[in-house]
Amino acid sequence: MSKSIAGFSKLSKAKKIDWIIDTYFANSKSAKRIIKQYWNSDEKLQKLHDEFIENTITNYYLPLGVAPNFLINNKLYTIPMAIEESSVVAAASKAAKFWQKRGGFKTSVISTTKIGQVHFMYHGNFETLQTFFNTIKPQLIEDTNAITQNMQKRGGGILDIELRNKTNSIAGYYQLHASFETLDAMGANFINSCLEQFAETLKREALTFELFNEQEKNIEVIMSILSNYVPNCLVKAEVSCPVNDLVENNPEASKAYAEKFVQAVTIAENEPYRAVTHNKGIMNGIDAVVLATGNDFRAIEACAHAYASKNGQYSSLTHAKIENETFIFHIEIPLALGTVGGLTNLHPLVKLSLEMLHSPSAKELMQIVAVAGLAQNFAALNSLTTTGIQQGHMKMHLMNILNQFEATDAEKKTLTNHFKNNTVTHSAVVNALNNLRINND
Ligand code: MEV
Repeated sequence: MSKSIAGFSKLSKAKKIDWIIDTYFANSKSAKRIIKQYWNSDEKLQKLHDEFIENTITNYYLPLGVAPNFLINNKLYTIPMAIEESSVVAAASKAAKFWQKRGGFKTSVISTTKIGQVHFMYHGNFETLQTFFNTIKPQLIEDTNAITQNMQKRGGGILDIELRNKTNSIAGYYQLHASFETLDAMGANFINSCLEQFAETLKREALTFELFNEQEKNIEVIMSILSNYVPNCLVKAEVSCPVNDLVENNPEASKAYAEKFVQAVTIAENEPYRAVTHNKGIMNGIDAVVLATGNDFRAIEACAHAYASKNGQYSSLTHAKIENETFIFHIEIPLALGTVGGLTNLHPLVKLSLEMLHSPSAKELMQIVAVAGLAQNFAALNSLTTTGIQQGHMKMHLMNILNQFEATDAEKKTLTNHFKNNTVTHSAVVNALNNLRINND
C-alpha cells in the first residue's frame, strides 16, 4: 500500500531502495535484483550518475546507436543517437546514404542570439519608467561584470537590454528583455545569473530614483528567467538534386516521386493534425542527437513547437519545392545547444559522442542536429509516400517482440527470414515462434 514518507532525501541510497521495495513491490527480491542489475560496477562512474539528480536508485539505459555516412558541407560524420524507438537510426542511416550520393547536406547558421527576461510590476507613469531605465542601463550592465567577464573575453556576453511595456496584456506588467551571445555554452546558468543581477539592480536603483514617487519606487520583480524560445538562434539545413536523380535511371518515376513528396510537405505546412506528426518525426532525429550530446531535449522540443506556430497556425518545420527541375528540401529550426558546460564535461558517453562528431563548436552542432532532423523527415516521407510506414516499422518491431518472448539467436534468424515474405503482426510473430518451438521439441 502507498504511504508518504518524511525526510526521504536524507536517507542513504540503500535505505531509499529498501523503502521503495517494502512499499511498492510484492516480489521484493525480483525488484531489488532489477534495480541492482543496472548499477555500474565501476563505483566512481556510478557515483557520478548518482549525483546528476536527487534520490537516484539506479540507471535507466537507452541504446546509443550511430548513423554513419552523413556528408555535411563536404565533411563526413557518423552521428550518435540515443533513442528507444526502433527504426529511427536505420531511417537516418538510409537517408544519409541516399543524400551522400547526391551531394550531401548543406547547412548554415543564421543567428545565435539567446533571450532572457526579468518580469516585473510597476504602477506609475510609463515615460518616467523609460527615463529610469535609460538612466540605469549602464549600471545594469556594469553590475554583471563579475559574471560576464570570462564570456566577454571569448567574444560573447550581453548584447542588449530593452524595456518592454506589456501593459496591454496585463495591467502594470513590464519586462527587461535581454539578448545574449553565449558562444559554445548553452548558457542557461550564465543568462539566469545575469538576469537575477539585473533584477537586484532594478529594485535597488528604483528606491533612490528621484523622479519616482513613493509608489513608483516599489518595483516588484515577479521572476527572472531565460526564455527557451530562441527564434534568433536559427539554423538551416538543405538537400537538393536534379529531380531526375531521385529514382535512379527512371525520370518518370523521379518526377512523380518529387511531386508526391512536395505534396506531403505542403499538407504538413497547411494541416496542423498532420504537421504535429510530421514534426514529431523530425524530433525523432533531433532529440536523439540532442540527448547523445548531453543537451536539454525539453528545451529544444518546447522551442521547436513554438517556432512551428510562429505564423499563428502550427505548421511544418520543413519545406520542399521543385524549382528549375531541381528538388529542394530544407529545414529551418531554432536550436539553443552547447558543447561546453553542463553534462558535456561530465558524462563519459556525451564526451565520446562529441569526439565522434569531431568535437564541434555549438554552431557546428546546431548544423549536425538540424541535418539529423531533416534526414529523419526525409526518411519518414519517403516511406509514407511510397511503401507506407508499417513495412519498415514492423520489421524493427519484430525484433522487439522476439526479445519480449526471449527468442534465441537461432529462433531470431529463422523468424527474420520467415517475415521477409510475411506480414508482421504481434499475433503472427507469437504464433510463428510457438510453432517453431513445438517443431523443435
Ligand atoms: C514515427 O515515430 C514518426 C512518423 O509518424 C513521422 C511522420 O509521420 O512523418 C513516421
